[in-house]
Amino acid sequence: MLTESTPIPRVSPKSREYVNRVLDYGFHNCSSPGMLARLEKEFAARFGQRFGIAVANGTATMHAALMAYDIGAGDEVIVPAYTVFSTAAAVLHANAIPVVADVDPDTWTIDIEDVRCKVTPRTKAIIPVSICGLSPDMDPILELAAQHNMLVIEDNAQCFLGYYKGRVVGSMGHFASFSFQASKHMTCGDGGILICSDEELATRARKAAVLGYSTLTAEPGQTAIPEELRCNPTFQRHTSVGWNYRLPEIAAAVALGELERIEELVQMRQTCAAFFSEVIDACDWLIPQKTPEDYIHSYWTYAVRITRDDVDWAALRRKFIELGGDGFYGAYLPVHREPVFSNLSDHVRTHPECYPHFDGRLPDYRNVSCPIWEEIQPRIVMLKTNYFDVNVARQQAEALAQTIDFFS
Ligand SMILES: Cc1ncc(COP(=O)(O)O)c(C=O)c1O
Repeated sequence: MLTESTPIPRVSPKSREYVNRVLDYGFHNCSSPGMLARLEKEFAARFGQRFGIAVANGTATMHAALMAYDIGAGDEVIVPAYTVFSTAAAVLHANAIPVVADVDPDTWTIDIEDVRCKVTPRTKAIIPVSICGLSPDMDPILELAAQHNMLVIEDNAQCFLGYYKGRVVGSMGHFASFSFQASKHMTCGDGGILICSDEELATRARKAAVLGYSTLTAEPGQTAIPEELRCNPTFQRHTSVGWNYRLPEIAAAVALGELERIEELVQMRQTCAAFFSEVIDACDWLIPQKTPEDYIHSYWTYAVRITRDDVDWAALRRKFIELGGDGFYGAYLPVHREPVFSNLSDHVRTHPECYPHFDGRLPDYRNVSCPIWEEIQPRIVMLKTNYFDVNVARQQAEALAQTIDFFS
């Protein structure tokens, strides 16, 4: 827990120093001051994996991972109903079909029993999401994946330094994906990293993310072709299809500075959550996301469920703001209820020739049902935890306490 009353800076002084190093070095085609390499090496090591591939965002990460495993036309990938569209978007980018599984009623992470029901001979991967900063129940997922030879990509965009039964979140799947988007525990504005311990998979992901350059390896900082080769007119540059998902060196410099204080950034969120938790413990109609005993929650958000029918989500938010609260978010629509899916289902039905990769098997997502999450989702309150000043976090908890009093 942070107890200091001095605010911590929004951007770490180290990030500023590393950015200046990049600017002083200048931008060159075949060399760099090594920020990307350091970020990839240190991030992977911190999260218990051998290789890091830093890319433009935490959606590109998952797309690259799916490509690395040759997932594409005809394949299905299981994702949870409670996630950001990006998780499913990566599957669509890979030309595969997102299959949506329901969540556990208490932890709101993917429900293994529903996953079991949704596995088919075409299931090639599963993307468990550490939603709000809490690990899914990984052991049964890993076991099922091993039985069916499925790739496991942990989507940890919202979870840095969470723990599951003593293991750091990010060390369990074949790949783990993180986002450095502006709302995340550590940020460089936009960016992401994929980590992995299998050298062949990591190399393939690297090539998928950097134009399929023939010389690339899984080693840190590999995004360019050596000058002696690239100037040669007979050099065969591209041996596989890859996107251009590179993370700029200057963004890597910011991310490296933030990584070096990641413990502090996570503790800050956990401290804010602890203040909210004290208040919520005394309330019997706001039920927090359940953290099982041997898990450590990293609290990207402190999320609670309204259980009273006579307390309206919008009225609660209005009162919270009136009493000095900073607002809160609702949960995203169940991912299969985002209009993009019904629109896509319609377009595939009317223009099947444009979607040969779905082979007539894309579901009509209006018929997909995840009753647990559909019931809970409208009642979720996602409180912010990114207060860089402990005193501000305390005030927010106080405003929440007064809001609860008002409705009690
Ligand atoms: C659960 C989850 N997955 C994936 C992403 C995608 O990350 P990015 O915005 O960096 O593409 C996000 C970020 O919003 C997220 O919260």
